[in-house]
Amino acid sequence: MTTASIPDSATLQSQVASQTLTQDQLKALVGQAALQYVVPGEIIGVGTGSTVNHFIDALGSIKGHIKGAVSSSVVSTQRLQALGIPVFDCNSVSRIAVYIDGADEIDKHGFMIKGGGAALTREKIVAAQSEKFVCIADESKLVTTLGKFPLPVEVIPMSSQRIISQFQTKGATASLRMKANQPVVTDNGQYILDVTGLQITDPLAFETEVSQWPGVLTVGVFAYQRAHVCLLGTATGVKTLNFDPPV
Ligand code: A5P
Repeated sequence: MTTASIPDSATLQSQVASQTLTQDQLKALVGQAALQYVVPGEIIGVGTGSTVNHFIDALGSIKGHIKGAVSSSVVSTQRLQALGIPVFDCNSVSRIAVYIDGADEIDKHGFMIKGGGAALTREKIVAAQSEKFVCIADESKLVTTLGKFPLPVEVIPMSSQRIISQFQTKGATASLRMKANQPVVTDNGQYILDVTGLQITDPLAFETEVSQWPGVLTVGVFAYQRAHVCLLGTATGVKTLNFDPPV
């Protein structure tokens, strides 16, 4: 892994001006923009996903100015360490000022669906330990109502069929995430269900309810751990959405 693929900000800005950015370039743009939220001398919380990968690569350029990172997945840990950024265990860190992560969907209140990369449980843990959640996303992720993106739910394997049935009673369809004909196993040794047919009009109530179902480890609705800020990559540049004060 190298930093050679990071587009420099002048290149990105000129592409913004001519509106030629691809979705990946929009992700790179917000990954770079997130550097402004990194607090010098502190430990930064780092999420998971293709947008965060751009942030990690950009973070490599200022690694001498931070103490290190707390990571939300094995894959992000490996990427951080490959750049020479120290990674700390959550339990050894008392305070994380800022957590930077992507989202699969985000609404105008900062409520999100996350977990497309199967890292939702550790993402929620690091987000809960952080004072500020900065979401980085391209504009395709901004939605009016959460639920079009299949909702990831991390479950204890022996509960998966019962939880699939519980979603059925809500008129939704849950299916076990598979790869190469095998269930996907998370960093925590559990399974992922992807749930379609939902319209999540009350994310706080939904997260509260599903989190209580026996066998659910983490539901991919981030309402209690919502974003405080979103850096949204758009055809006209990075838009900053501030969600404070809390709804
Ligand atoms: C990882 O489990 C997810 O929560 C990601 O943060 C989310 O899926 C966004 O991923 P991309 O940045 O790859 O779109």
